[in-house]
Amino acid sequence: MKVDVLLGLQWGDEGKGKVVDVLTPRYDVVARFQGGPNAGHTLEFDGKKYVLRSIPSGIFQHGQVNIIGNGVVLDPILFREEAEALEQSGVDMKKVLKISKKAHLILPTHRVLDAANEAAKGAGKIGTTGKGIGPTYTDKISRNGLRVGDTIAPNFHDRYAAAKNKHLATLASLGMPDPDVAELEARWFDAVKYLQQYDLVDSEHLINGYLREGKKVLCEGAQGTMLDVDFGSYPFVTSSNTVCAGACTGLGVAPRTIGEVYGIFKAYCTRVGSGPFPTELFDETGSRIRAIGHEYGAVTGRERRCGWIDLVALKYAIMINGVTQLIMMKSDVLDDFDTVKACTAYRINGETVTDFPYDVDGLEIEPVYTEMPGWKTPMSAMTSEEEMPKAFLDYVAFLERELETPITILSVGPDRAQTIERKNFK
Ligand code: GDP
Ligand code: IMO
Ligand code: MG
Repeated sequence: MKVDVLLGLQWGDEGKGKVVDVLTPRYDVVARFQGGPNAGHTLEFDGKKYVLRSIPSGIFQHGQVNIIGNGVVLDPILFREEAEALEQSGVDMKKVLKISKKAHLILPTHRVLDAANEAAKGAGKIGTTGKGIGPTYTDKISRNGLRVGDTIAPNFHDRYAAAKNKHLATLASLGMPDPDVAELEARWFDAVKYLQQYDLVDSEHLINGYLREGKKVLCEGAQGTMLDVDFGSYPFVTSSNTVCAGACTGLGVAPRTIGEVYGIFKAYCTRVGSGPFPTELFDETGSRIRAIGHEYGAVTGRERRCGWIDLVALKYAIMINGVTQLIMMKSDVLDDFDTVKACTAYRINGETVTDFPYDVDGLEIEPVYTEMPGWKTPMSAMTSEEEMPKAFLDYVAFLERELETPITILSVGPDRAQTIERKNFK
């Protein structure tokens, strides 16, 4: 059996949570493979809205197993808040969720280090979510991390103290005073006890076992390809591999088991935090997209930077991930524009560039746009492709030609129901 992977192709917030929820009924298992509570995945159904951060977006459908994989970094405090809220809304969390023993723990001092690193960078700061993501992955790679499975070891408290002391020494080297984390620490240890009530598993064995039994697995990515630590706009990226290969390392599934790769993108483009964004709009059009698309962070409430769709970056993302199907989100946000634009190349120092460059930061990039007529028709109540305006379908066909990949789902609103599956969906 194959595993399918669903991931973001832009700078995150493409609408991954919504589509995972929509596709979940076709799967037996949904598994998150990287990232942590820096993610905010929004789902809407029955007039209610939920934002998930560390818990997979398959949690609301019935009967599926949801797994937090080894590639994820978990903050016990935030996990507990999220899980208890879901329990209150009727989800039998301890029954449907399993957590990899190999997932790394975010410590209270990781959050402090995240803030200190940002402060030390000054104007060059990344604009992180402040959730301790970078420092936790740093400890993982430098072999100093603590894992979910370690929480049951008799020497867990000593290992925690050793890790914390290292962090305090790093903070001192940055000229920061010892932070007062006593209250946070007490909540953290309480939350670790809460975490231990869950099924802590060897998720690589579990998932490969499911595959042998013929069960279908959907892997849910967080962030987006342009935030990948290797292929994104480094250093303005997150600290994990957000690309398809991250599903292999973040869950322990072999590359040859990957089946469909669903690449999610918005009909336009957004970014939160610092870093290059070639098609960013600083004008009235950018503000209109932000207002209509409610482009504010699901978790931090930060304003998202907005711009036209960037096909140079998208083609790059499709290549790196081996995308087999594209899913276009937030089509409805452009319903009332006279014209829409798509960037097909960059002009850099008089040259036309179509391969995403090594480093786009600090370069004078002039996007080359193709401008098309807008459709000027509200689409959010539409339920089939047949009802959709010709100008919109022409835009979709143009994107498919440029990207050489089929667009198989069109999303026209935040609700589960506002999702149009095309005939070419596999
Ligand atoms: P994720 O991080 O990729 O899961 O995306 P976010 O949840 O951070 O951001 C996507 C936002 O767009 C959320 O507020 C969704 O409710 C909303 N959304 C998703 N799909 C659509 C759509 O097709 N149209 C509109 N208008 N909103 C959408
Ligand atoms: P979802 O899964 C959008 C951005 C931050 C910052 C950079 C590094 O909801 O799409 P980090 O806290 O990871 O060290 O921050 O990455 N970022 C996201 N932007 N969506 C996300 O997740 C993001 N997760 C991190 O804004 O620029
Ligand atoms: Mg998000």
